[in-house]
Amino acid sequence: MSKGKILVTGGTGYIGSHTAVELQQAGYDVVIIDNLSNSNRDVIDGIERITGIRPSFVEADCTDINALRKLFEAHKGIRGIINFAASKAVGESIEKPLFYYRNNLNTLMNLLELMPENGVEGIVFSSSCTVYGEPDENPVTENSPIKEATSPYGNTKQISEEIIRDYVRSGAGIKSVILRYFNPVGAHPSAEIGELPNGVPQNLVPYLTQTAIGIRKELSVFGDDYSTPDGSCIRDFINVVDLAKAHVVAVERMLSGRSQEDVEIFNLGTGVGLSVKELIAAFERATGVKVPHKIVGRRAGDIEKVWANPERANKILGWKATATIDDTMRSAWAWQLHLHDLGK
Ligand code: UD1
Repeated sequence: MSKGKILVTGGTGYIGSHTAVELQQAGYDVVIIDNLSNSNRDVIDGIERITGIRPSFVEADCTDINALRKLFEAHKGIRGIINFAASKAVGESIEKPLFYYRNNLNTLMNLLELMPENGVEGIVFSSSCTVYGEPDENPVTENSPIKEATSPYGNTKQISEEIIRDYVRSGAGIKSVILRYFNPVGAHPSAEIGELPNGVPQNLVPYLTQTAIGIRKELSVFGDDYSTPDGSCIRDFINVVDLAKAHVVAVERMLSGRSQEDVEIFNLGTGVGLSVKELIAAFERATGVKVPHKIVGRRAGDIEKVWANPERANKILGWKATATIDDTMRSAWAWQLHLHDLGK
């Protein structure tokens, strides 16, 4: 028997598609809405190949409230929403701030507005460790100070968290779980779904795998003069399937009335900081494939080091990241090889 219907906005995207798989495997019915601005409909086939179940798919934009109204009309009984629909490129957000505010915030506000009248009980929101900025101390807990955002993208995450808090407190009768992701990497072990960057990747792992396969000549390591043991930046790289599983647990908690507060916040990370150089070494060790790379200057706006204290999620959600970095790197490589076979 189905555990209920979940609306996954941005469900053909990177984290959304992995979460749709985990939700279906846990017994939920999944309805995906995506405008395909940074993904494509083949992802639905990938989800079906993994799970044997084709999720419902609505191609529409969540900033269009009438399209959302129609969706709720057509798909009665949605119990929860997981909101992945957002733009996420830091650099682009600096060039197009209004687009970022409009897209990310209107999407969230439309969803929130329609929840009570459609009987939707709760929303899981994709936030980011970007809210901690350059932390004074690592690892960061959920109570670490929120720092002034350094990009409109980061600001949309901070503002979204506040919008959710204010709306839930207003007596709307809904609950929320806010998940602050660290650096999601890797792909589904089946290599049926993964990250599909548009154009030249801005993030480390897609650039690395594209270099390893020869699409890019060389990976640039942005700075090795940071005050870290090897001079390169440190991040908490979290396997995307582990991350996706946390959403299932969060939904389950929210819908079963086990939340201790109407808005709960969890860091989703491994608790281990890895440097950019260590990540490259892990990839080479795990796959046996060399990655040509060179050290270049720092990238503007980069944080020197940030990693999670995931204890709250470990204890309260009962969730823990389990994949090793070697497995994660192998999955990223298998996905790149799959894309290569498809001529992408
Ligand atoms: C950034 C955002 C984060 C956002 C994420 C997804 C900040 C502080 N973080 O993460 O909020 O959710 O993007 O878009 O704005 N690197 C290289 N060479 C490369 C690419 C990256 O050396 O070609 C290094 C970077 O300098 C950084 C690390 O790899 O130290 C990770 O970079 P990246 O994958 O872009 O993620 P973040 O910048 O951490």
